[in-house]
Amino acid sequence: MMIDVAEELCEECIPGLRIDHVDISGLPMVNPDLVTDGGEGFPPAVEALRDRVHAADCFLFASPEYNYSVTASLKNALDWASMGEHNCWADRAAAIVCAGGDFGGGRASFHLRQIGVFLDLHFINKPELHVRAFADPPKFDEEGNLIDVETRERLKKVLLSLQAFALRLQPKDD
Ligand SMILES: Cc1cc2nc3c(=O)[nH]c(=O)nc-3n(C[C@H](O)[C@H](O)[C@H](O)COP(=O)(O)O)c2cc1C
Repeated sequence: MMIDVAEELCEECIPGLRIDHVDISGLPMVNPDLVTDGGEGFPPAVEALRDRVHAADCFLFASPEYNYSVTASLKNALDWASMGEHNCWADRAAAIVCAGGDFGGGRASFHLRQIGVFLDLHFINKPELHVRAFADPPKFDEEGNLIDVETRERLKKVLLSLQAFALRLQPKDD
């Protein structure tokens, strides 16, 4: 997984940037019938997600490409945290790292940029990281751990760019 390596890189060599990895696999599917309190009461797992999204300064999305798009679980999490009176993603910096076949997940990455327009996310443009997961040399081991040194270096550059952009977007204290 690229997120684990991103966490490591932040601890090792990017002061000021820390990854709070959110596991989105256990969320219920978006269903407005699960929302109570006039649109502000969410299931506990969704509340927890929304709190963490709200608290973040910026976002690193890591997704495989599923049928030319992001995974259903990522879209589900994006939708949950956008609902209610408060879109929790709004006005924050974001970066995407994708893995896939010949396009390295590039189509999913561009689809996520499109989704991010209405969420009011601000994606870094450079560098891009679309990993051709099945090309030689192997990028991931059998457990899905990122093992390719060059990809690790490129991931570090994405993180540095994300941090710099997040700092530029922060309101200045006059
Ligand atoms: C339903 C499904 C659709 C997929 N569609 C694509 C695709 O459109 N493009 C691509 O490069 N890989 C595609 N793949 C391969 C995934 O990118 C590959 O499984 C992924 O890199 C490995 O992550 P995972 O083990 O979390 O699925 C697809 C895989 C699945 C299961």
